[in-house]
Amino acid sequence: MLNIESTAIEARDNLISQKVATLPPSGIRKFFDLLSSMEDIISLGIGEPDFVTPWHIREAGTYSLEKGYTMYTSNSGMPELRQELTSYLELHYGISYHPEHEILVTTGSSEGLDLALRAIINPGDEVIIPDPCYVAYPADIILAGGVPILIPTNEENNFVVRATDIEARITKQTKAILVGYPANPTGAVMSKKESRAISELAKKHDLLVISDEIYARLVYGDEHICFPSLPMMRECTILISGLSKSHAMTGWRIGYVAAERRFIQALTKIHQYTMLSAPTIAQMAAIEALRNGEAEVQKMVQEYNRRRRFMVKRLNEIGLPCFEPKGAFYAFPSIKATGMSSEEFAEKLLLEEKVAVVPGTAFGACGEGFVRCCYATSLSNIEEALRRMGRFIRKNRLTT
Ligand SMILES: Cc1ncc(COP(=O)(O)O)c(C=O)c1O
Repeated sequence: MLNIESTAIEARDNLISQKVATLPPSGIRKFFDLLSSMEDIISLGIGEPDFVTPWHIREAGTYSLEKGYTMYTSNSGMPELRQELTSYLELHYGISYHPEHEILVTTGSSEGLDLALRAIINPGDEVIIPDPCYVAYPADIILAGGVPILIPTNEENNFVVRATDIEARITKQTKAILVGYPANPTGAVMSKKESRAISELAKKHDLLVISDEIYARLVYGDEHICFPSLPMMRECTILISGLSKSHAMTGWRIGYVAAERRFIQALTKIHQYTMLSAPTIAQMAAIEALRNGEAEVQKMVQEYNRRRRFMVKRLNEIGLPCFEPKGAFYAFPSIKATGMSSEEFAEKLLLEEKVAVVPGTAFGACGEGFVRCCYATSLSNIEEALRRMGRFIRKNRLTT
C-alpha cells in the first residue's frame, strides 16, 4: 500500500508553533501528492471548474493591466466592485447590504472564512460544523484558537446538519454555527425548512452563523436559500462567498464577505494588516464578471447539471449507490458494498484503473464509506472514468 501520510510536520520542532505542528495535513493534499508522480490519470478529484474564465472577463483583466491598474485598492475593495456585489446579492437573493459598510472584498472566500473566524473567536470558543465538511473548516477554527464541534451527518438526513443534533451539542462555549450549503464534499443543499430550523436555533441561543455560500449559484433544483435572507438572520450571519466557482475564476482569488457593519469592521481590521487589499487586476475582472457574466454562468450550470445526471445514474448502475446531489459539482457515492475503507478504495482505484477520487475521510470521520467524485470535468472524461470504475468493481468481485 502507498504511504499517503506524506507531509506531516515534525511535531517536536520547537521553531514551529504547536498549533501548526499538530494540525493534520489536508486529506486532499495528501492524496494529491500521490497523483503528481503518475501519468494518464483521469481525475475526478480536483474541486474546481474545468472551464477557463470567460473571455470577456479575462479581457477586462488584461485591459486593467494595460491601463496600469497595478496599485493597491482601498482595503475594503474597489467601490465599484462593492456596488456590483450589493446589486448582485439583491438581484439573486433579495437581500440588501450597504456597499460602503457591509461588504469586504477578500482574496478568495478562503480569506473571508479565515477572517470571520479570527474576528469572532476567543480562545476555547466552540464552533459547530457538519461532518463531513470542507477541509478548511476545522483547520481554520483551530488556527483561530477555537474548538471545532463536529455534528455527524449521513445519507438518512441527506448530509444536512439537523437543528436537533446541533442543539444537543450547544454549550456555554458555543459561539457560532458554520454551515456551507451547497456542500463540499457531498453536493447536499439545505432546504428552506432545515435552514429555518437552524436560524431559530441560532436566535434562541444567541449564536452567530457563518454561512459559506461559495457554491450558491450551482444548484440544480430548488432555488438557493441565502442564509441571511431568512427572518432575523441578517443581523447574526456572516455571509462568505466569491466568484471562484460560479464564474470559473479560482485563480483570480476574489471573494467577499457581507455582514452587518460591526462584523465587517472587525474583519477589515485583520484584513488591513494581513492582506491590505485583494488583487487589483482581479477586482477589475470581477466587476466585468458581475456586470456581464450571467449568461456564461447559466451555460456552465447547465453543463454541470448534464454531467451530474450522467454521473449519478452511472454510479448507481455500476453498484455504487449515490444519493442525489442537488448543488456544487460533487457526487458522494457509497462504497460500503465493496468492503473497503474509503482510503483503500481510492488508492486501489488509482493504482489499478488510474482514476482519482477523494476518500470521504479526507472530509471527516463521517465520510468513511464514501468517496468524492467531482464532475467539473468533461463528459468524455466522466464516461471513461465510470467505465473504468465499473470494471474495477467487477474485476475485484466486490459487489454483494
Ligand atoms: C466549501 C468551500 N468553501 C470555500 C472554498 C474556497 O474557495 P475560494 O477561496 O477559491 O473562494 C472552497 C474551495 O474549494 C470550498 O469548496
